[in-house]
Amino acid sequence: MTTSTNGPVTGAPVTVRVPAKVNVQLAVGAARADGFHDLANVFLAVGLYDEVTATPADTLRITAEGHDVDQIPLDRTNLAARAAELLAARHGIEPNVHLHITKDIPVAGGMAGGSADAAGALLACDTLWSTGASRDELLDICAELGSDVPFSLVGGAALGRGRGELLTPLTVGGTFHWVFAVADGGLSTPAVYREFDRLTEGTDVPEPEAAPELLAALESGDATALAAALSNDLQAAALSLRPDLTATLAAGTAAGALAALVSGSGPTTAFLVKDAEAAESVARALLTSGTCRAVRVADSPAPGATPLR
Ligand code: C5P
Repeated sequence: MTTSTNGPVTGAPVTVRVPAKVNVQLAVGAARADGFHDLANVFLAVGLYDEVTATPADTLRITAEGHDVDQIPLDRTNLAARAAELLAARHGIEPNVHLHITKDIPVAGGMAGGSADAAGALLACDTLWSTGASRDELLDICAELGSDVPFSLVGGAALGRGRGELLTPLTVGGTFHWVFAVADGGLSTPAVYREFDRLTEGTDVPEPEAAPELLAALESGDATALAAALSNDLQAAALSLRPDLTATLAAGTAAGALAALVSGSGPTTAFLVKDAEAAESVARALLTSGTCRAVRVADSPAPGATPLR
């Protein structure tokens, strides 16, 4: 493949697969001066994937396929486009690439779909353009793109401090089985954080800390212990904006899930189950309950952004 400062970029298309995430703990502190919130964010990557294909082109262009893609911007405000621009700018080349996104992660669902596409675009462009960015440089660009983007790159399980971008990898001692109930419509992450601020106004919001029993449950692969330790400080805010999700959570619990919670800022809801068989029966019950648009079954942990070809 060849590159030049202004000329076209040539090379074989590169496809990168990137996982969704669920936050098994999302401890949220008070709003900081910059508007962000300090977090103790325990990310777990799950086996639901978007794919980003980078193909040489004369200009930066984005296309997408999948459910609800009419709701994602296809211009330079798309985080995947910004990833290509940031990488190109650092290496003094033009961001000439066609990025095609195949979406399977719910759009605006609280599962880091937009972050996954940004991490995927970054890795795909780095491979296509042979820019050879180091892992640290890629992580730096990811952090500039958004709080959840570094985790989409690395996958597995990690504790995110700061606004979620400062990652410490975590050990996971087994496979956890999940069912996800996809809701109609999306929730805006900033709106959910604003609602969190409104609901906690005048209260003493504690410093966010990772729960030792949750980290121990991840490490031992014990689903029952993990179920008892799951927590999401954004859940009350998400339910305040989407009270209908309460019925979805109740339907999954009644069907035998070990635990139910809102995924990140929602509106996707996540159900931890004991095994693959339980996943199938909880998924069926959720679908017939009429309290969600679709259901997905996925295992965790899942690998981070991975080039496929
Ligand atoms: O970092 P990212 O752009 O994904 O964040 C989206 C929005 O979510 C921010 O603009 C902010 O409103 C909110 N947010 C926050 N604290 C965090 C992460 C995100 O308030 N730690």
